[in-house]
Amino acid sequence: MQNIKEELLLKLKEVKNLSDLNDVRVLFLGKKGKIQEKMSLMSTLSNEEKKSFGQEINLLKEEITNLIEELKFSLEQKELSEKLSKDKIDISLPGTKIVKGSKHPLNKVIEEVEELFISMGYDVVTGPEIEKDLYNFEKLNLPKDHPARDAQDSFYLTEEYLLRTQTSPVQARTMENNLEKGPIRIICPGKVYRRDNDDATHSHQFHQIEGLVIDENISLAHLKGTLEVFAKRMFGNEREIRFRPSFFPFTEPSIEVDVSCFKCNSKGCSICKNTGWIEILGAGMVHPNVLLAGGYDPNKYKGFAFGMGPERIAMLKYGISDIRHFYSNDIRFLNDFNRIEGGVDSED
Ligand code: DAH
Repeated sequence: MQNIKEELLLKLKEVKNLSDLNDVRVLFLGKKGKIQEKMSLMSTLSNEEKKSFGQEINLLKEEITNLIEELKFSLEQKELSEKLSKDKIDISLPGTKIVKGSKHPLNKVIEEVEELFISMGYDVVTGPEIEKDLYNFEKLNLPKDHPARDAQDSFYLTEEYLLRTQTSPVQARTMENNLEKGPIRIICPGKVYRRDNDDATHSHQFHQIEGLVIDENISLAHLKGTLEVFAKRMFGNEREIRFRPSFFPFTEPSIEVDVSCFKCNSKGCSICKNTGWIEILGAGMVHPNVLLAGGYDPNKYKGFAFGMGPERIAMLKYGISDIRHFYSNDIRFLNDFNRIEGGVDSED
């Protein structure tokens, strides 16, 4: 046994790396190694001899294991520090630029409006962009030959189908789909299409956000309170709103809603054209014919509706002077917009 130990110490001296060390371990502690070889002699010994021989060989085995482990540890440390000194990191090198995306300004406005109305208990619903004449016009109290149809020059696909000119058809669809004919509280953001020539304020494709509330005992006062919360949230806490009479076929009475000018605090400026007020949306009480077309009893239920253009709201809010900026996907506009709250066309 003494020989075995001496032989081990000699071999360990020659070990240069972990792989050499493993060879030594196999040679001494492996299944066919020197220790195992000695163990196999046990069967030739008397019981008395077995005991002391066993103890001795176990001690030797433990000693060899410890010596190998110690050397293994110091070899591992050595390899690690060699690797670390080779793999130096140059912290003065410029980093890899991570290209960061950002939200489109229109989506920012739409999401802000959605969040506000969700907090007031509204559902956000959507409808098809390829719409039936039936929902886009007829069920909204715009029968065929109605003069208001002229005002909305439309992209007809067939006699029956067109690209929706407004998000109002979602009102008709939601009423029709609500089989219980109970209360409704929705907003509906989406794209709409009109045969306009594109310029700084017109686009053949733009967005609207529709709102509809139906319940018993709904009045204009509810509409006013709701839109006041909306105007303050979007344009600042000091804002006031006012109603002006207007006309939409699907509401009676119909109104246009102005917000007090947030640029000049109603003193008069170029944005409010010196009136102190800025028009932000159309609204009204749901026309009885629209309730009937949606299967609601106008004697029991009332409702209010509104429709707004998020492009217009974003242009006002961020001082953007050309609607085409929203669709040209000019990365400079989108990036600038992300950095500067005022937007690129801000007048001041
Ligand atoms: N759909 C109208 C438009 O495109 C906007 C509108 C006005 C929607 C009044 C409404 C409303 O729901 O009540 O001009």
